[in-house]
Amino acid sequence: MSGGKVLVTGGAGYIGSHVALALLQEGREVVVLDNLSAGRRDLVPDRATFALGDVEDSALTTRLLRDEKISAVMHFAGSIVVPESVRAPLAYYRNNVAAVVSLLESCVACDVTRFVFSSTAAVYGMPAAMPIVETTPTRPINPYGFSKLMVEQVLRDAAAAHGLQSAVLRYFNVAGADAAGRSGQCSRQATHLIKIACEAVVGKRDGVEIYGDDYDTPDGTCLRDYIHVSDLADAHVVALRRLEQSGESGTFNCGYGRGYSVREVLAAVERAAGARLKVAVGPRRAGDPPALVANADRIRAELGWAPRHDDLDLIVADALAWERRLAQTT
Ligand code: UFG
Repeated sequence: MSGGKVLVTGGAGYIGSHVALALLQEGREVVVLDNLSAGRRDLVPDRATFALGDVEDSALTTRLLRDEKISAVMHFAGSIVVPESVRAPLAYYRNNVAAVVSLLESCVACDVTRFVFSSTAAVYGMPAAMPIVETTPTRPINPYGFSKLMVEQVLRDAAAAHGLQSAVLRYFNVAGADAAGRSGQCSRQATHLIKIACEAVVGKRDGVEIYGDDYDTPDGTCLRDYIHVSDLADAHVVALRRLEQSGESGTFNCGYGRGYSVREVLAAVERAAGARLKVAVGPRRAGDPPALVANADRIRAELGWAPRHDDLDLIVADALAWERRLAQTT
């Protein structure tokens, strides 16, 4: 892949660091901007240039875009914990909306016209019908989902007014880790199911609680569409390629189109671990939709995205290998 340098905000975080790896693999030059509030310096690939700072620091972003001759921005920096967004909405709107608007102003000022944005299945809220297509009505049910949806609107308006082309990627449940062990999920207080189950395997926690088994689903537990983080990273690479080739903006679901229940995920973790987990069934967690499954035909058809890790056992095995690595080093 040819093309100019890419600024990856949040490139010291879980998804951003995998995208930085994928871009470098494609021969791209990468500059990572991260304030290390959640990210880790050692997750930034050696071959990437690192800048410490905030996305909302417009003097810094303008300088970086100009001095580094950036041709495209991929934006990952932001806050991602749904219940926290309910408790601290203003912080979420500041980090996930205001800071992005500031970054976009810098892009417009510096004539950077390509922007890849991490959005989320949370923009759909609790959709009635599965699988979810990109035209399914967007009705977020928490500030996190609203914050992402607001930026989607900002991007459409900025495309019309300023010619800023964007690819919006709506992630379903991202999991797994780089197969070569170069990056993985490091969240200090994990909330994601696969991460939590892997922490239980390595002894970081006692067991796993299933948040409700009385949903209207085949085994009563919630269904989610788990996507390997390295396939998601590839989706960003192909999205950028399309922006560069056609200049067309677009919105794409990122999932595999298959739902697994919480119990099926826990069974996969037990297979990978070769051991049983201590599992308890608790009450439902507020705000959990019974099922979130993507229809991901558009990204395959329009961008030629071809996932290489579409296998729950592989996702879980990579997540567990990373968790074991973390347990040895921390
Ligand atoms: N779960 C448990 N026990 C746990 C953790 C999770 O039973 O200890 C269940 C949840 O109830 C849910 C499923 O496992 O049914 C997956 O939960 P995660 O927390 O791993 O992921 P979510 O589906 O809640 O979150 C995802 C994305 C968010 C997005 C949200 C939209 O990670 O970014 O979907 O609803 F906002």
